[in-house]
Amino acid sequence: MNRMTCRIVTTWLLLFSVAMPSGCNDAGAVAQRAPDAPVAAASHLAEASPGQPRSLAEPTSADWRWTFVEDFDRDIAVFESVFWEPLDTTSLRALIRDSPLVKGKTVLEIGTGSGLISLCCLQAGASRVVATDINPAAVDNAQFNARRLGLSDRLDVRLVPIDNAGAYSVIEPSERFDLIISNPPWELSEKPPDQIADYALYDPHFELMRTMLRGHATHLAPEGRFLLAYGCVTAIRKLQATAASEGLTWKILDDRQLDDLPELFLPGMLLEIAP
Ligand SMILES: C[S@@+](CC[C@H](N)C(=O)[O-])C[C@H]1O[C@@H](n2cnc3c(N)ncnc32)[C@H](O)[C@@H]1O
Repeated sequence: MNRMTCRIVTTWLLLFSVAMPSGCNDAGAVAQRAPDAPVAAASHLAEASPGQPRSLAEPTSADWRWTFVEDFDRDIAVFESVFWEPLDTTSLRALIRDSPLVKGKTVLEIGTGSGLISLCCLQAGASRVVATDINPAAVDNAQFNARRLGLSDRLDVRLVPIDNAGAYSVIEPSERFDLIISNPPWELSEKPPDQIADYALYDPHFELMRTMLRGHATHLAPEGRFLLAYGCVTAIRKLQATAASEGLTWKILDDRQLDDLPELFLPGMLLEIAP
């Protein structure tokens, strides 16, 4: 079962669980809006005051929808081709929300998608967030959501060039962060994806993973933390092996055991990499 299938199965499980009486729904973290909800939300936004820039009133992307996560207090716009599976990062969001992890801190998010995690960091008091993505629609998407939520003055979203896709290719050599986080693509591929959307799922030769690990010490402030979310056993084992070969240690911040999990699983698991 690939990640897409995993997402489809999860969505069906969620739809099923939403249809169950309360108390039966133990998946609970995410709710997809009914199909007509984006139209209502879009027309509400279209009523924004006439002087408001179009980019704040509605996305310019041809195809987009509103989504909703129970633990985030505002709807999130998701543009066409941009990744959306908040179950990947349930525990990361809980840590951001319920601990002093990001308060007053600088954060780098690698592969921001809709911007959900970066927005959580900003809402939880991060002083500044730099977010990167290889998908131009994701860059627009994260900027749109941040503007709409009034958080854009502390968010810097940067586009990663496909021909220079290393984890820190758009980060200055002197830039340091208190926290580096990522919910990266989990699945190995032998060649670069054909579709930009597939960069959310596939990491060619695990190159993004390798460059994330190799460069992180240069960009982490003293006492900084490096947290990664993964929901794929093969990728986690590869991460552990790569970390060890780089002289790094890893810790799983989760009660589940890798041996008990299927190859692809949700919610994603949080791992911490340290010297
Ligand atoms: C699994 S998605 C996670 C998106 C978002 N952080 C979330 O949790 O919803 C991975 C993201 O990484 C981006 N990505 C893939 N390769 C990248 C690279 N080399 N540099 C930056 N972003 C990349 C994808 O476009 C995608 O948005």
